[in-house]
Amino acid sequence: MRLQLLSDLHLETESFEPRPSPDAELLVLGGDIDATWAQLDRFAGWPVPVLMVAGNHEFDGRDLGDAWAGLRERCDSLGIRLLERERWVVTSAAGRRVRFVGTVRWSDFDGLGSAQRDRAMRASAYFLRLMAATRQGVPIDAEVMRNESLACRRWLEDELHEPPQGRWDDTVVITHFAPSLRCADPRYGRQPGTASFCNADEDLLPLADLWLHGHLHCRHDFTVHRPGRRPMRVVCQARGLADKGEADGFDEFKPIDVGATDEVRQGLLPGPCHTVPGDPAHPMESMP
Ligand SMILES: [Fe+2]
Ligand SMILES: [Fe+2]
Repeated sequence: MRLQLLSDLHLETESFEPRPSPDAELLVLGGDIDATWAQLDRFAGWPVPVLMVAGNHEFDGRDLGDAWAGLRERCDSLGIRLLERERWVVTSAAGRRVRFVGTVRWSDFDGLGSAQRDRAMRASAYFLRLMAATRQGVPIDAEVMRNESLACRRWLEDELHEPPQGRWDDTVVITHFAPSLRCADPRYGRQPGTASFCNADEDLLPLADLWLHGHLHCRHDFTVHRPGRRPMRVVCQARGLADKGEADGFDEFKPIDVGATDEVRQGLLPGPCHTVPGDPAHPMESMP
């Protein structure tokens, strides 16, 4: 099954007109599409099914409790299938049954190891203030986000350990937050703030054939070895912000095949990021 992946379009500020890939069977929206939700209507009437996992910016200035119901209603009205801690199995044109599992995943702040958790949580304070979201009326702080994130992690872990029992052939995980430090944006290197972007889900990677994510405003495509099995693949295909140069070289039609042959995937790491690589003095400015 060939997929088109779009994430971090940030249509609340960016000028970008999404177009269907001519040969994709399904479009995946990886979150941070439009903080206002208004421009999700660009995906209404899309020629192939549209799956979406929300990003952190879909909750900017909103209460998590109300926002989930509202976002689901908005997506339903446009024919977009929103996945949050849910599975959806689709049969490809070639007859393969593909299990899609999706969740925002958020950040549990253990991406740099649990010993760094406190520092990572402190480093997230600025991002969380900008997000200005609440949960049951209480501002979302690092503790609330961690609890939300751990709930996502528990669901994902259980789901990925579920035996297929003939129900699916391939598994695609979609998260907004990244599953590994390997996904860290090379512009910023590894610093406490990196844990606001990347979780340590390496143990779950082999349970997926393909893991799609966003949140990092850079692009990469790498494989992870699985003994005795085809390598699994991790792809981020974020567009990001044009005025930061993040959209330079963005290929909205990049083909992503589930079950593609290994040789197609080789030599694709690392993807392009467009500013100073690994500059430890350059703190992340906002949560992508
Ligand atoms: Fe994000
Ligand atoms: Fe983003």
